[in-house]
Amino acid sequence: NDAASGGINSRNIVEVLAKNNKNALLLFGSQTGTAEDYCNKMSRELSSRFGLKTMVADFADYDWDKFEEINEETLVFFLMATYGEGEPTDNAIDFIEYLDNEADSLSRVRFTVFGLGNSTYEFYNAIGRKVDQKLEEKGAERFAEYGEGDDGKGSLDEDFLTWKDGVFDSLRNNLNLDEKELKYEPSVKLTERDDLSIDNESVSLGEPNKKHIAGSVELTKGPFDHTHPYIATITHSKELFKSKDRSCVHVEFDLGESNLKYSTGDHLAVWPQNCNENIEQFLKAFDLTSKRDTVYDLKALDSTFQLPFATPITYEATVRHHLEISGAISRQFFLSIAAFAPDEETKAKVTSLANDKTKFAEAVTHQKYNIADALLKISNGKPWRNVPFEFLIENVQHLTPRYYSISSSSLCEKTKIDITAVVESEVESDGRVITGVVTNLLKNIELQQNKSSAKPLVSYDLDGPRNKFSKFKLPVHVRRSTFKLPTSTKTPIILVGPGTGVAPLRGFIRERVQQAKNGMNVGPSLLFYGCRNENEDYLYRDEWPEYAKTLGSNFEISCAFSRQDPNKKVYVQHKILEQAHKINKLLQDEGAIIYVCGDAAHMARDVQASFAKIIAEERGVALEKANELIRSLKVQNRYQEDVW
Ligand code: 2AM
Repeated sequence: NDAASGGINSRNIVEVLAKNNKNALLLFGSQTGTAEDYCNKMSRELSSRFGLKTMVADFADYDWDKFEEINEETLVFFLMATYGEGEPTDNAIDFIEYLDNEADSLSRVRFTVFGLGNSTYEFYNAIGRKVDQKLEEKGAERFAEYGEGDDGKGSLDEDFLTWKDGVFDSLRNNLNLDEKELKYEPSVKLTERDDLSIDNESVSLGEPNKKHIAGSVELTKGPFDHTHPYIATITHSKELFKSKDRSCVHVEFDLGESNLKYSTGDHLAVWPQNCNENIEQFLKAFDLTSKRDTVYDLKALDSTFQLPFATPITYEATVRHHLEISGAISRQFFLSIAAFAPDEETKAKVTSLANDKTKFAEAVTHQKYNIADALLKISNGKPWRNVPFEFLIENVQHLTPRYYSISSSSLCEKTKIDITAVVESEVESDGRVITGVVTNLLKNIELQQNKSSAKPLVSYDLDGPRNKFSKFKLPVHVRRSTFKLPTSTKTPIILVGPGTGVAPLRGFIRERVQQAKNGMNVGPSLLFYGCRNENEDYLYRDEWPEYAKTLGSNFEISCAFSRQDPNKKVYVQHKILEQAHKINKLLQDEGAIIYVCGDAAHMARDVQASFAKIIAEERGVALEKANELIRSLKVQNRYQEDVW
């Protein structure tokens, strides 16, 4: 990767560090971009406060077999996310393999590790812990303590700051590095291009593949993957709920000539864009409204810094397609933006909030303010016009794709992908509407496609001069998952998926229907589905009887309606218990496989407890033993989860 290696065409990380004269390396194992974002922020701080010559790198851009030859002066920071069931992120797989197998003596490596994990999953921070352990085992020297963060408790940002403080202490006290006051030093330089306007071919308006094709505006024709999404047409969409105030959309993407392949149970990544209302507020906060269509170029000031998106681009397209403007704000962001406050009073307020964890949580996080809302509130509506746009590009998190479980079956529909998404929205007490970025975009498309007169909560730029892909198209890519039907069609399956957790299970049932139609011998499928009310949010209600026509008594659906009887909450786990005997028999005698999809925090846990109870009671074993059995089922892939 030329751009990331400072123009040195090498996959040898040691060589790239040496040639660029770097003495600090920050590596990210990132799936959704958080670890990468932390690396970038920390890198800037290390360089501005401690004068370290830092470089941020993606594991996937390098080979690791020469890593042990690293210069002993180099400090290496590992920011490792754990994904799914204790797995490394895609970009870190090769490095973990290297640590496990090839790595010999790593005595020249000086390291510290931060793990990013989620405690609602069984294998919490498995990868962070493993990397920390393995490096020690191989003789590397830990210059600052291991730290980890918990996304499940929503404390990831604070956990990261705590760890970072510890690392800085160690740089000061153990490594005796001199320290300066934190000051923003840009890694990029922005130059406005008065000679270019938005209708010029070379100007990017957010087309995702552009940066990879130097000097050409033509979009890639494939292969399509997580760096080159396919711009897919939404051929059909519909509302699934019959409710005044809640919404869930079924959306069908045509894979056309893309040659994209998926298999039932995979995920579809949809590339986001922000809604007009949030963009306006953001532009207003930084006094950029009149400059929305101004075109600019970006140049990296440090040869190892990778430009985050294609330029030339407009200010508005940057905000619409690349900046995460509606998510939560971190204290760190507040701390660094204070220097650019519009007046001294605002600066003092922002600094004091940023330095007080509790006050910050109360005044900003719990209010669910986005960046623009929070900054305008504190400055009493005064725009923050002193903030360099370079600062925003470098400090605001970048938009990353949103993932959805695919609800179609690749056996029935090879070139079409269905997804099922609840439209996220929340109205705060002061009237602010907080909306999910992609789900509301999908809802907008659904309303327009079906020519509905209903008014969406927020609006998007679906066509017009500022949108280069036409009305009902969105960039997508496919992510492989391990949530897969058994190889034998005869194996019984027990499916549990309340709410949109039913999405991949619909794919499974459709697949089995097709297999039966193809004359194959298909085993029993038990589906446990849950929603609030039979007449309101029962997903795909009309489809299930159709499937039963083909599968006959081999398909059973049990529904838990949680708000139908005001005196009684019925959940899927209760319905599972009602069939204790049958479920145990399927598991014990017929090798059934369990699939659970949906909410990780509560549902998946409660459901697992139900299965454990069944095993304990039906087999007359202790609950502890039953739980152990479930763990072993998980290891054998006979208890699979797709939870979030
Ligand atoms: P509730 O909202 O009425 O509590 C889909 O979201 C369905 O899952 C809803 O019926 C919801 O019920 C239900 N649900 C909420 N918490 C759950 C849990 N811990 N286990 C199983 N289902 C749950």
